[in-house]
Amino acid sequence: MTHVLHRQLRTTPPVAVSGRGITITDSAGREYLDASGGAAVSCLGHGHPDVIAAMHAQIDRIAYAHTSFFTTEVAEQLADHLMAHAPARTSHVYFVSGGSEAMEAALKLARQYFVEIGQPERRHFIGRRQSYHGNTLGALAVGGNEWRRRQFAPLLIDVTHVSPCYEYRDRRPDETAEAYGERLATELDEAIQRLGAETVIAFVAETVGGATAGVLPPVPGYFRRVREVCDRHGVLFIADEVMCGMGRTGTLYAIEAEGVAPDLTAIAKGLGGGYQPIGAVLVGTRIVEAMRRGSGLFQHGHTYLGHPVACAAALAVQRVIERDHLLDAVKSLGARLDRQLHARFDDHAHVGDIRGRGLFMAIELVADRASKEPFDAALALNTRIKAAAMARGLMVYPSGGTVDGRRGDHVLLAPPFVSTPAEIDEIVHRLGEAVDAAIAERPAAVAEQPAAGATR
Ligand SMILES: Cc1ncc(COP(=O)(O)O)c(C=O)c1O
Repeated sequence: MTHVLHRQLRTTPPVAVSGRGITITDSAGREYLDASGGAAVSCLGHGHPDVIAAMHAQIDRIAYAHTSFFTTEVAEQLADHLMAHAPARTSHVYFVSGGSEAMEAALKLARQYFVEIGQPERRHFIGRRQSYHGNTLGALAVGGNEWRRRQFAPLLIDVTHVSPCYEYRDRRPDETAEAYGERLATELDEAIQRLGAETVIAFVAETVGGATAGVLPPVPGYFRRVREVCDRHGVLFIADEVMCGMGRTGTLYAIEAEGVAPDLTAIAKGLGGGYQPIGAVLVGTRIVEAMRRGSGLFQHGHTYLGHPVACAAALAVQRVIERDHLLDAVKSLGARLDRQLHARFDDHAHVGDIRGRGLFMAIELVADRASKEPFDAALALNTRIKAAAMARGLMVYPSGGTVDGRRGDHVLLAPPFVSTPAEIDEIVHRLGEAVDAAIAERPAAVAEQPAAGATR
């Protein structure tokens, strides 16, 4: 009997005992290809010797020093490294222990900025439907994952949600991608005006949508128009790159490809690659300057801010990415993954869309391709695909509620940057088998089950 409160209370997951490269082995000796990097975390795979050596060295030097007393060399070096490659007009980094903490800090930084510059009436955030920013109460509130929000709704701050950038379902047949992006930016503009522009703090968005709707890349020009709208109203733009950042899409920050700079950027998963829990907020120069001139402090903090071993792991991960030219690997392996997915699923009766960028890809499953009608949510097809994949030694990240928080299924892939081309091919091969098996074995009628998976 386990005393661990696992994610699912009626089942206990296999016991992971070792990891090497892109393979995890369980206590029964079964091997799993980690095609999702857990939840888009393990960018360098498992057991990377350089990262392990850096952590050992840091533990030998100093494992912990509270940030209200000290800074550490390793935190300073990691901040320097991140700033050398950061989005424009960003000057400082705030280190936390994960993605939700990064988003909470970003929300508070944004609010405090306006208090510092004498606009305390700004109190509203605008997020997007079908998004995810974390499970703590602030992050959950700005997120638009209906399934995750529902039972906690009475505890959440009031946030306005606008449409996601979901081209497959929402772009009209007579609309160009640019016109669709323009329409979405206009919707944001109208939402800001409805709330009263002088009361809005920030617009919050994942640059490339992640787990909730299954990798939603922005259409060309969307974020440029969003940035213009925000600037016109003095509203900040917070980019959540917890999942899509740190090289996952082929550029270090996904927003680089959009040609705009956020005011605050949250990063986490690929920052430390799973070797240690770490997240961070990259903070815009004007926000830092406002705090420096004003109160002189950011009124926030946690016990494990800037943890030295976590910083050492992240610094090693980021140096390996740079040294080994892994952004180039993401681009070429990503192109291969895209090709293989199209070869396997273009003619599949139940794959409606294949989308993504770099090594951040998803397939969306539909009951009918012509109408895009999703499968009955009660089938919990995504859960079946996950089980069928695990039975075939494959870790992928399927979720339900793709369309609206209840209906729809997708499978997210986020393989490590160190995957070989042969491993990419094998991932797609096993995924094809798992999808076919899950669809073939689905019961004709089933009782209502929760729609969404919970890998995160
Ligand atoms: C875009 C995004 N933001 C925030 C989070 C929350 O990160 P964490 O689970 O590390 O708290 C996640 C996690 O999946 C995410 O995908």
